[in-house]
Amino acid sequence: MSKFMEWIDARFPATSMWEDHLSKYYAPKNFNFFYFFGSLALLVLVNQILTGIWLTMSFTPSAEEAFASVEYIMRDVEYGWIIRYLHSTGASAFFVVVYLHMFRGLLYGSYQKPRELVWIFGMLIYLCLMAEAFMGYLLPWGQMSYWGAQVIISLFGAIPVVGEDLTQWIRGDYLISGITLNRFFALHVIALPIVLLGLVVLHILALHEVGSNNPDGIEIKKNKDANGKPLDGIPFHPYYTVKDIVGVVVFLFVFCAVVFFFPEMGGYFLEKPNFEQANAFKTPAHIAPVWYFTPFYAILRAVPDKLLGVIAMGAAIAVLFVLPWLDRSPVKSMRYKGWLSKLWLLVFCIAFLTLGVLGVLSPTPARTLLSQVCTALYFAFFILMPFYTRMEKTKPVPERVTG
Ligand code: HEM
Repeated sequence: MSKFMEWIDARFPATSMWEDHLSKYYAPKNFNFFYFFGSLALLVLVNQILTGIWLTMSFTPSAEEAFASVEYIMRDVEYGWIIRYLHSTGASAFFVVVYLHMFRGLLYGSYQKPRELVWIFGMLIYLCLMAEAFMGYLLPWGQMSYWGAQVIISLFGAIPVVGEDLTQWIRGDYLISGITLNRFFALHVIALPIVLLGLVVLHILALHEVGSNNPDGIEIKKNKDANGKPLDGIPFHPYYTVKDIVGVVVFLFVFCAVVFFFPEMGGYFLEKPNFEQANAFKTPAHIAPVWYFTPFYAILRAVPDKLLGVIAMGAAIAVLFVLPWLDRSPVKSMRYKGWLSKLWLLVFCIAFLTLGVLGVLSPTPARTLLSQVCTALYFAFFILMPFYTRMEKTKPVPERVTG
């Protein structure tokens, strides 16, 4: 075996890559619950790619046959139903995992110096993931696929001068048609997965360059032993590879329970109108995007003007990119920040979740008002951040991690 590895290592950096990224990559020893979601995001990514490949084998990307081919997968293809449910549940699981992964970043200031690029690559992943989910949703060619895409693509029409041409260019037609379905299929199965995989590699390379943050927000590289090993670090392999398996097992229990017992999740993972084939002459009574887009959809609807609504929705995502430069706190972790930061994070989370609920419901004047308040709070969290993070009194950060 060692002769074989010598032969490989003379030609390819296998051992050194293994050591740099796993067996000699020192991670802080105080990772907690929130640190499971990075490895879980990788697991869901692999699930989506594998089940996606198998779905593609039996799916027909044409307006005439797409809907029927999904039914064919569900009824006639051997194990087709489980492959489809793994993929559709995986899409929602991806967002659950990624939202918790991002929340961890907010909680422990993982976006702060020197991890700005880790965060930015993360945000690019998030954008790519949203595009991937949006395009995948058109493919089953159900009523909600069709009308959801119709609503979102028509938003580009609000852009002055080029808006109308742009929507036509995206659709490839005067309305959503088989041509749109075909191009979304190409982007969903080839282009975006390649970009997504590339971004995940960059995300992890950037992280391993600077090292992981931790719940105390302390740089473990500052305290090293005589051999130059971080005193508060442990090798990622075997310690965290084994620990992450615990997260994987618990996750798979919940995930499989959903796949086997509640794949539609009461209409939130697979929406009811999508069991009816797309019909350009029949608009569903109530069009709402899938749950993971609803906070941004609620922001869009909160603004009375279409163009300003689109700008607000774009800004809600764009502002996350500059987060590393908005936080002026001398400490990273919420454990040592002041009460203002804690309060604003709480307000932000409540506003985001409330927007998520409002985005599912049909609008009434009271709900619109509530979404306007929540939109204002959402942006206030970011806009006021340079002030409250500098003003507040922080707690002293310990020299070593607190376990
Ligand atoms: C496909 C999606 C993603 C995958 C596979 C992924 C993977 C990972 C992995 C494996 C880690 C190291 C383990 C951990 O700290 O949990 C990590 C860390 C991190 N990720 Fe992601 N990630 C994804 C999306 C995102 C997004 C959307 C963001 C934020 C916008 C983000 C921000 C971060 C940050 C800041 C860290 C460092 C955390 C720390 O050291 O405390 N990631 N990611």
